Amino acid sequence: MKILIIGSGGREHAITWALRHTSVSDVEVYCAPGNGGIAQEARLVAISADDSAELISFVQTENIDLTFVGPEAPLSAGIVDAFESKGLPIVGPTAAAARLEGSKVFAKDFMARHGIPTALYRSADSASQALEFVRSGEFGSPDHPVVIKADGLAAGKGVVVASNRSEAETAIGNLMIDKVAGSNAADRVVIEEALSGVEASVLLFSDGRDYVLMPPARDHKRIGEGDVGPNTGGMGSITDSSILDHETMREVVSRVIEPTLAGAREEGFPFRGVLFLGLMLTATGPKLLEYNVRFGDPETQAILIRLKTDLLSIFQAIRNQNLAGLRVEWSQGASACVVAANRGYPGAYEKGALIRGLDQVTGVEVFHAGTSRSTDGSFIATGGRVLGITATAEDLKSALARCYDALDRIEWEGMQYRRDIGRRALTGSVN
Ligand code: AMP
Ligand code: GLY
Repeated sequence: MKILIIGSGGREHAITWALRHTSVSDVEVYCAPGNGGIAQEARLVAISADDSAELISFVQTENIDLTFVGPEAPLSAGIVDAFESKGLPIVGPTAAAARLEGSKVFAKDFMARHGIPTALYRSADSASQALEFVRSGEFGSPDHPVVIKADGLAAGKGVVVASNRSEAETAIGNLMIDKVAGSNAADRVVIEEALSGVEASVLLFSDGRDYVLMPPARDHKRIGEGDVGPNTGGMGSITDSSILDHETMREVVSRVIEPTLAGAREEGFPFRGVLFLGLMLTATGPKLLEYNVRFGDPETQAILIRLKTDLLSIFQAIRNQNLAGLRVEWSQGASACVVAANRGYPGAYEKGALIRGLDQVTGVEVFHAGTSRSTDGSFIATGGRVLGITATAEDLKSALARCYDALDRIEWEGMQYRRDIGRRALTGSVN
């Protein structure tokens, strides 16, 4: 069975690893374009994740049996529709379904149409209209926080949680006039009530009708310990039973997941693939901040390390629309992923240093996010996020200890990581 994974980060390394480690059949994994670490598990294919014409031609020439897409950009651009129009098997949402992530305005209007609990919002298609909404007082007094979100995909640069009205006005200027999130991403913005609470990520596999939940996870988005500094793609993640209690999970299922899947079917785009819900657990119950139409990074690393069922059988069940008949099992306990990044990330970062100590680590999986391999087999830190040190254990404390023990043995010039991943969950200040 030949499988192609599209993407090049820690998420795709974890998917590749899980396919090889859970598979009961003989799988030959290819990854386009992949990275140095993924090359240990898969054959790298030098085609960009966004070049669907080249990917299609590769899949046809190599007789690839199944393709899975990691990142959001190709999904929004319609790679699934392009493959399906040629009769090529692929797992992921169509462009119509990917609007749940690709347009914040579409996602918020969809939530409103289906009564899904979320922050109050308005959408604006000009800076003057956005300023008018912010100044109207409907999102609170001038010293009250308010959230501004670029409508389109913005690689994590499109959301500003402004602490007051004047910061919100600056954010509107930056996004809509100076276009800091990209040329078209903020042609429209969503202005949103700022919610307070603790965040949780719930991911699920869906075949359009039935779904299978993954263990709830939590990302750590800020670069600095204690959740300070700029947002990143994610500096660490955990899965642990403390993230969502059973009652809250039931509420998420009945008020968010089931209406979402039913709503997508009713509106003509049954959701097939991996759906990610970014939730805020507020004093008045869980509220949906956002949808992602794919695996999260680095949530995936912490989630898939606990998967016991053959990942390929899950992908096939999504395609064959028989997820209901599949029993998906996860290891007991908890897991953690601690991301090690290059100095300077998430801004301009240094790169090119030799990574030492990888052969000294045990008890963890090292998922590579941004490395290349030199001819002598050593690894070079080439990305912003470089490695995701990931472990599972009977409890969160032990999983974290494994990650940090491994990190003590790894080094490169310019390496940085947070030493407080999972700490709030451990000290009980969460929930
Ligand atoms: P999003 O891409 O919509 O998940 O936003 C990125 C991050 O911004 C989230 O993970 C939250 O930390 C924060 N955020 C988004 N919307 C809100 C909101 N309404 N209230 C408070 N924080 C928010
Ligand atoms: N970790 C959040 C994301 O993948 O968007």
